[in-house]
Amino acid sequence: MFSVKNKKVLITGGSSGIGLALVKHFIAAGAEVMVIDLQPSVELAEAGAEIFVADVGNETELAEAFQKAATDRKLDVVINNAGIALPEGRYEDADLANLDKVLHVNVRGVYLGLKYASRYLNDGGCIINTASAAAHITFPEYSSYSVSKGGVLAMTRTAALQLGRRGIRVNAVSPGTVLTPMESIDGPEARISAQATALERPARVEDIMGAYHFLAADESSYITGTEIRVDGGWIAGMTYNLMDKALA
Ligand SMILES: NC(=O)c1ccc[n+]([C@@H]2O[C@H](COP(=O)([O-])OP(=O)(O)OC[C@H]3O[C@@H](n4cnc5c(N)ncnc54)[C@H](O)[C@@H]3O)[C@@H](O)[C@H]2O)c1
Repeated sequence: MFSVKNKKVLITGGSSGIGLALVKHFIAAGAEVMVIDLQPSVELAEAGAEIFVADVGNETELAEAFQKAATDRKLDVVINNAGIALPEGRYEDADLANLDKVLHVNVRGVYLGLKYASRYLNDGGCIINTASAAAHITFPEYSSYSVSKGGVLAMTRTAALQLGRRGIRVNAVSPGTVLTPMESIDGPEARISAQATALERPARVEDIMGAYHFLAADESSYITGTEIRVDGGWIAGMTYNLMDKALA
């Protein structure tokens, strides 16, 4: 049940954090794993994944990386996971360079990932995009990131409609706060998630692997154009912790 054995899986942003955990998870589950990232990492090499260095927002680099990854046989699963978050401020002081950087990776990178996944995936394959709970729960000074992840969800639905005739499924995983180099245990998001989630803690990378595995497996063959939220109950609503604070 839920086997991903022998599937050929390409993961962007696989050198660190969630992507690296996905690499290890899919290799342990018997998949052949390839990575596209800006940089190699020692852990990635030790895990046994092949890496192609490319900026996901650069079409020439990404096209070449996909072509190399699919040289011997086409891909079964593409996980568009590379993403960045940058500190931001209020609109009145906005630095548009920040917006451009975030959109370059999180929107252009996923858009191009969908373009080349469409070309190099087997019919019957699947695409999983890493979105974020931030597509739904916005913060007062965290606009670019939420915009970008809302865009990922929109592209997920559009691509599902385009690729359905080939039996290719396209879905998103939307994590809440996950402890990675992007989010440290003492960072603001981790502290907020202790108050704002039903489970009263941020996620570990292991907590979110199941959603990707489930979507990649053939048993999910009628699931497309949708999103699995793995957010510890953040989007579910008001927690006891927040109510207690508000009503104290
Ligand atoms: N950590 C969280 O709390 C959290 C929550 C929700 C969603 N996400 C999303 O999960 C994904 C992974 O995040 P993470 O926490 O593992 O971050 P991370 O910083 O640990 O890893 C991101 C990886 O993407 C790579 N990358 C960045 N820009 C790239 C580019 N232009 N081209 C190719 N590779 C690039 C980095 O080199 C790195 O290996 C991102 O899309 C992020 O937005 C993270």
